[in-house]
Amino acid sequence: MARFRFSKDDERTMPAIVVLGAQWGDEGKGKATDQLAKDVDFSVKYNGGNNAGHTVVVNGEKFALHLLPTGILSPRVTPVIGNGTVIDPKVLFQEIDDLEKRGVPCDRLLISSRAHVITPFAIAIDHSSEKFRGTRKIGTTGRGIGPTYAEKMYRIGIQVQDLFDPEILGEKVTVMSDLVKSLSQGWSHAEPIDPVEVTQELLSYSERLRPMVANTSLVLNNALDENRVVLFEGGQATMLDIDHGTYPYVTSSNCTAGGACTGTGIGPTRIDRVVGVMKAYTTRVGEGPFPTELTDDTGETLRKLGGEYGATTGRPRRTGWFDAVVARYAVRVNGLTDLVMTKLDILSEFETIPVCVGYETPRGRTDQMPDYSVDFAASRPIYEEVPGWKGEDISGITDFRKLPQAAQDYVTYLEEKVGCRISVIGTGASREDAIVRHSLV
Ligand code: GDP
Ligand code: IMO
Ligand code: MG
Repeated sequence: MARFRFSKDDERTMPAIVVLGAQWGDEGKGKATDQLAKDVDFSVKYNGGNNAGHTVVVNGEKFALHLLPTGILSPRVTPVIGNGTVIDPKVLFQEIDDLEKRGVPCDRLLISSRAHVITPFAIAIDHSSEKFRGTRKIGTTGRGIGPTYAEKMYRIGIQVQDLFDPEILGEKVTVMSDLVKSLSQGWSHAEPIDPVEVTQELLSYSERLRPMVANTSLVLNNALDENRVVLFEGGQATMLDIDHGTYPYVTSSNCTAGGACTGTGIGPTRIDRVVGVMKAYTTRVGEGPFPTELTDDTGETLRKLGGEYGATTGRPRRTGWFDAVVARYAVRVNGLTDLVMTKLDILSEFETIPVCVGYETPRGRTDQMPDYSVDFAASRPIYEEVPGWKGEDISGITDFRKLPQAAQDYVTYLEEKVGCRISVIGTGASREDAIVRHSLV
């Protein structure tokens, strides 16, 4: 029988929760999501592809997840890859094989028939367009993400469902090949790619893919109707969002909360909680503005202490102090209800800790994210310094009251500056290294 939804005040519990990045990625979304997995029925990726790299440490064993939802590590969870993602089938199968070899079953995985497929064309364009941009390159992960979303918007994209229809697939690959050829004329870097070979390669994935493919929008809406707990996992982060990030130095998807709806086929009234994950400081991989970046020894110290090297490309991450303007912006554009702050343990080496509370911009002082990219690029941080807890190792602490007073004060100070409660605090990389102040599920 049909169920009607009138308001959020009916007797539903807390079935839908979005977890996303509040900075420039690599905030520890993987760990934060994994910690919730024991209370979750479905774990759903809604954007991005294998540009993501989420590290999860379970019983001392380290897993790096790219395309697969973090929930894959928890047997009771159904992992889902939503329509808003982009999938490289070769990488998907490699990731599944690697996990299964390590004893993680992946047969529960569901994949949207509407997700888009990354082809060799997209990977080639990703590389050649970066070369073409020269000093203005974005510093992409080179996985073909941007060009695949561009093909989607051009309406020549290949969806997962096309892999089951050789005729349609062949036609689509030909159109894509012709368009790519004409667009890349004069790009000396572009190597010719044979459309017939691409079609054959894509078809070779279809048999293995078929049992995983589903109408995931229907599955998820049914699950929510039954009060099952669904966790939507954002890849990348707010400041890398195609609409709200530091354009053009962004990824090509909506990483922000709205992406959870468009990227999975659920409506906004379904979402009860939106959790932003942020580090106790800031990092960024790739090019683009970063007001609090430290290019000195302190930056190197943060990189070393925090192990700040990309989980996908291995590139050293750029490091800097916490930026409350960015965090406040993330609260605004995502409607965050809670924050998870990771890596507080990494700050135990500092006498004092600067926090950026506003910017000096060409248009004057502000405590809001500048709307114009040029103003943000020219922004200079205004810092307030708060006392550190140098020498007091807080690794693995799980009780807020056991933190040194200065660490407690840092957390409450940030809450006030950012305007959102910090519900969970990370004190180490392992699943259990966290202080839970407010339960998220
Ligand atoms: P994601 O892409 O947002 O999932 O983040 P990454 O996995 O790329 O990067 C976060 C890194 O920080 C990983 O190496 C995690 O193991 C690690 N990490 C997460 N939370 C904590 C924490 O609270 N303390 C410490 N020391 N490491 C953490
Ligand atoms: P997770 O999910 C950090 C960055 C790239 C580049 C820009 C565009 O692990 O937080 P793309 O290949 O997406 O076209 O690259 O976005 N980037 C990330 N940075 N964490 C990520 O994912 C990222 N995914 C993409 O470095 O600057
Ligand atoms: Mg990452």
